[in-house]
Amino acid sequence: MNRSFARRGGRITSSQKRALFTLWPRYGVELDKPLNLEELFARPAEKHLEIGFGMGDALVTMAKTHPEHDYLGIDVYNPGIGHLLLQIEAAQLTNVRVIDADVVEVLQDYLPSHSLDAVYLFFPDPWSKKRHHKRRLVQPDFVTLLAKRMKSGAYLHLATDWEDYAQQMLQVLEAAPEFVNRAGGGFAPRSPERPLTKFEQRGLRLGHGVWDLLYSVNSDQ
Ligand SMILES: C[S@@+](CC[C@H](N)C(=O)[O-])C[C@H]1O[C@@H](n2cnc3c(N)ncnc32)[C@H](O)[C@@H]1O
Repeated sequence: MNRSFARRGGRITSSQKRALFTLWPRYGVELDKPLNLEELFARPAEKHLEIGFGMGDALVTMAKTHPEHDYLGIDVYNPGIGHLLLQIEAAQLTNVRVIDADVVEVLQDYLPSHSLDAVYLFFPDPWSKKRHHKRRLVQPDFVTLLAKRMKSGAYLHLATDWEDYAQQMLQVLEAAPEFVNRAGGGFAPRSPERPLTKFEQRGLRLGHGVWDLLYSVNSDQ
């Protein structure tokens, strides 16, 4: 399968680098066996997943706003992982855990079936060149796999500032029998619950539009 990311080193600050060593043991998740989410967070609470959290700002905002939910973040971008670890520590959040891996692998091999109450995918890499479209995360096989790891009725919230990817997301999800459009068809209005992300701010500065999509897992599945 084509990877949806190119592992980028990026510019990492010395404190982010330090956090990858000092804070990882506390908040990082080692993938040595299939995950038991109740054990991981040591409580029965709703489990929310953010895929590709980037610098982690949205994840931290959501975790602060909803201390009653547990949040799992997945990304492969080291400066962002370091930044997120620092924010978790600064806010003393006990409801966030971090995974450094390809989300496709995590969904395939580590997350239990019917374990997630909500999934967020905000501004995934748009892979704008036509020859790269196959690298986009939102494809039929991916959403089928995702639905298997979500509970019946669980929410899926996507956002993108790339119109042509927004149309692809809509097409893929409308064709997926596992998902129901919560906006009654088409795109959803921007939800005040969705924090402004770094990537979105950059897009807005460049004059990009933003498209939100809101689905839930069909309870007939
Ligand atoms: C364009 S950035 C958006 C970051 C953030 N959501 C925001 O809105 O600012 C996309 C992020 O997804 C991550 N990513 C892409 N493919 C991934 C994959 N297969 N597994 C985990 N993370 C992935 C990238 O490393 C990057 O940090």
